[in-house]
Amino acid sequence: MDALEAIVTRRSLRAWEDRPISGPLLRQTLAAAMQAPSAGNAQPWHFVIVEEAERLGELVRAFHPGGDLGRPPAAVVVCGDPTLEKFQGFWPLDCAAATENLLLAAHALGLGAVWVAAYPIAEREQKLRAMLGIPAHVVPFAFVPLGWPAESKPGEDRYQEARVHRGRWGRLALVA
Ligand SMILES: Cc1cc2nc3c(=O)[nH]c(=O)nc-3n(C[C@H](O)[C@H](O)[C@H](O)COP(=O)(O)O)c2cc1C
Repeated sequence: MDALEAIVTRRSLRAWEDRPISGPLLRQTLAAAMQAPSAGNAQPWHFVIVEEAERLGELVRAFHPGGDLGRPPAAVVVCGDPTLEKFQGFWPLDCAAATENLLLAAHALGLGAVWVAAYPIAEREQKLRAMLGIPAHVVPFAFVPLGWPAESKPGEDRYQEARVHRGRWGRLALVA
C-alpha cells in the first residue's frame, strides 16, 4: 500500500480479533510514529505500550463506558514531554503528527487503530498517569487501541471545494 492509498483508506476501527500483535510489527508502528516531523526536530514524545488485558479493559471502559472500543489486544499511549521541547508550546502539534503517523502505519500493515483523546481532557490524562506511572511533567496525549481488525470501513472522500481558497479568501479554487 503506498502512502496516498493509506491516507485515503484509513478509518477509525473499534472491533478486534482475539490475536496479539507481534513485537516486530509493534516496533514498526512506533518507528513510523517517531519519523514524524516536530518543531526544531525536538521529538518531545514517549510511547507507553499497554497489553495487560485487565489494565487495558479498565482504560477502555473508563474512556468509553458504552463498550464501543471493544477488546483490543494492545494500546499505545502517546505522551508529550514539554521538557524536551526546543520551542515552547509545540509539543501537542508534534504529538499529533506522531499519532497520525502511527495510525497510518498501523493501517498500512493491516492493523486497525483509533485515536482516543487523552489531552486535553484532564480526567483522562490523570487516569492514564495514575494507572501507568507516567511522571507528573509528562502529558498523556492520545490513547490508541491497536489490533487485528474485526471490522472494515470504506474510505470516505472528504474533499470540500468550499474550504479551498485560491490566491485570496473566498475565491473559488477551481481545482479540477
Ligand atoms: C483529536 C481526536 C480525538 C479523538 N477522540 C476520540 C475518542 O475519544 N473516541 C473515539 O472513539 N474516537 C475518537 N477520535 C476518532 C474520531 O472520532 C474519528 O477520527 C472521526 O470520526 C473520523 O473518522 P475516521 O477516523 O474513521 O476517518 C478522535 C480523533 C481525533 C483526531
